[in-house]
Amino acid sequence: MAPTEAFAPAKINLTLHVTGQRADGYHLLDSYVVFADFGDVVRVSRAAEMSLRVTGPRAMGVPEDARNLCWRAAEAFGEPVAITLEKHLPAAAGIGGGSSDAAAVLRAMEALFGRTFSGDASALGADVPVCLLGHAARMTGIGETLMPLSQPPMPAVLVNPGVEVSTPEVFRALERKDNPPMDDWPLDGQRDSMLGWLRTQRNDLQAPALALQPVIGAVLAALEETGADIARMSGSGATCFGLFGTREMARAVAERLAEAHPGWWIKDCDLS
Ligand code: C5P
Repeated sequence: MAPTEAFAPAKINLTLHVTGQRADGYHLLDSYVVFADFGDVVRVSRAAEMSLRVTGPRAMGVPEDARNLCWRAAEAFGEPVAITLEKHLPAAAGIGGGSSDAAAVLRAMEALFGRTFSGDASALGADVPVCLLGHAARMTGIGETLMPLSQPPMPAVLVNPGVEVSTPEVFRALERKDNPPMDDWPLDGQRDSMLGWLRTQRNDLQAPALALQPVIGAVLAALEETGADIARMSGSGATCFGLFGTREMARAVAERLAEAHPGWWIKDCDLS
């Protein structure tokens, strides 16, 4: 029987406000999360025992055992499966690759076994619940409280300079934990009002990530030079996104940047 397939899109934090810290150390967030039409693919089949094979252009260095969140997601679902993970997204990059893969495994297993996942997705990682929702959302709490949003596609270019960033380290380097939450966003459906609003919002992890990995500044500058409507870091970095008026513009910018920076991972996409 053909394996059950699920898409694991890149997750982008258009905003990421850190509004507090819980007694257990986890941070309270207020984030506008969207998903790209680009990502990894997982394929899952029933099996006598667990296995994981990683293929694809970004497979190098990705663990094929219980260190991989895909494996832990299958264990949390409670059935042994054979998983193939086709890896296209860079790891430790602020775009939720591991979390999205885990959510895709859960979704594929729900289809394969004909029952919903009854476990706690947030126990797998703070970004797993929003990835399981798989839809634009306002994410609050430490990532477990979700309000789905309707977001028309936004053409974008994603750029990762090839440095891995440790999320706990970035949180540790954040000076103020009690920053203001997001302001209310415009509801008129106009792109210009959305952009105007986005420019006044923040990613509070951008400054500490930049201090740890100064190359992030070069990525943001390169995106700004191309005329991006806004350039910002996603998650705890190092991936940054630039928003553009059309997909054609995004594609042309991605090509230009790839020529100028052959060592960077660069992808045009639609975010929604
Ligand atoms: O939950 P996840 O494994 O993705 O988080 C990685 C690390 O990021 C956590 O161990 C924690 O240090 C930090 N984190 C946090 N507050 C959040 C999410 C993550 O402090 N809301």
